[in-house]
Amino acid sequence: MANILIVGAGGREHALAWKLRQSPQVGRLYVAPGNAGTAAMATNLDIQPTDLPTLAHAARIERIDLTVVGPEAPLAAGLVDFFVRLGLVAFGPTQSAARLESSKVFAKDLMQRAGIPCARSRTFSDFAEAKGYVESQPVPMVVKADGLAAGKGVTVAQTKEEAVAALHAIMEEHVFGAAGSRVLVEECLFGWEASLLALCDGETVLPLAPACDYKRARDGDRGPNTGGMGSFSPPARFTPELTQQVKESILLPAVRALAKEGHPYQGVLYAGLMMTSEGPKALEFNCRFGDPETQVLIPRLEADLFDIMMAVVDRTLDKVQLRWRQEACVGVVLASGGYPSQYETGYPIFGLDDVEEGVLLFHAGTRTGEGGRVETAGGRVLTVAALGPDLALAREKVYRNIPRIQFRGRHYRTDIAAEER
Ligand code: AMP
Ligand code: GLY
Repeated sequence: MANILIVGAGGREHALAWKLRQSPQVGRLYVAPGNAGTAAMATNLDIQPTDLPTLAHAARIERIDLTVVGPEAPLAAGLVDFFVRLGLVAFGPTQSAARLESSKVFAKDLMQRAGIPCARSRTFSDFAEAKGYVESQPVPMVVKADGLAAGKGVTVAQTKEEAVAALHAIMEEHVFGAAGSRVLVEECLFGWEASLLALCDGETVLPLAPACDYKRARDGDRGPNTGGMGSFSPPARFTPELTQQVKESILLPAVRALAKEGHPYQGVLYAGLMMTSEGPKALEFNCRFGDPETQVLIPRLEADLFDIMMAVVDRTLDKVQLRWRQEACVGVVLASGGYPSQYETGYPIFGLDDVEEGVLLFHAGTRTGEGGRVETAGGRVLTVAALGPDLALAREKVYRNIPRIQFRGRHYRTDIAAEER
């Protein structure tokens, strides 16, 4: 039996824990730091995801056979390199391969070297130069901070003033700190968006089922960008042929270029895509499972997740075939009032046991408070997910159950999977 440590505290990590718990090969399961949901199926360890020495210490003490890294920060901080040096096994890319997410400039340069279709762009480290360029370009245009900014570093500017304001905030006010020392200014792409995640063992690329997520806070794709307010899988327009095309034109070239340059990519590679009239183009790469995409992909996955993760680590992914349930899955995030800006936490969550059979509650910002009651502890609190024979029925099941779960200030989008995107 294998002992597993999952690093992270979100709905993604709860979904991974839920699936790994179902594997007959998995023994003890730990999540660091986890949440009230993971506490019900695993042992939470009070260790922060970027505290690498303490995580490694715990991995040794608890005889962990595989550490699974959820979020980007520990990957960018070099968790996998650190663990491998100590002889510990970890699922995720090394620090240098994770630059695909931790530096948008690195990712864009790599896309250009590898001939990956993407938006035309220029990189700046000087505000005056960037401003001059922005003033010469047509709108809308897209301004991106180079480094990690929790999904908030991108502005799709409708006017030049808005673009200059974004540059100013990033480069002069340093709202994202060092992540903003360089910016990308990109042409705006048009089309429909979707995500394709793939398992990679350094060489073989095995796409997961496609998914769509909803980044804006409010219905109709209005309001500020968030970490993600909901998702569904599969999008009907994302045909197997399109998956193959994205694999060949975007995922494989990225993985091959990284391998050629001495940074073989092992883990999950997430491509954020815009389906344009010229075909799929890469908007961004993430170096991990998406959140909330994972909460709708994992319930559809028919295989043993432990086997799949070991095939990535052991570089035997060429022998794996994934099978997916025909059913669709929809996930809706319940967030704290005010998220993604200021919000309050510590409110009791009611009705967690009152949902219909088959409804999956993946916890994110929750903790166990006084007397064992579950209370809110973050911006995104829960993902409510359900499978259904088709998207409409899965969606109906989710929304029918949401009113049963109550906490003060709760807000959510009512249009997840409502229409084709
Ligand atoms: P990112 O964090 O890079 O995925 O960007 C966040 C969101 O900004 C994406 O999901 C897109 O909706 C949008 N976006 C990013 N780059 C572009 C682009 N070049 N053209 C149009 N929209 C974009
Ligand atoms: N859902 C977008 C992300 O995980 O970055």
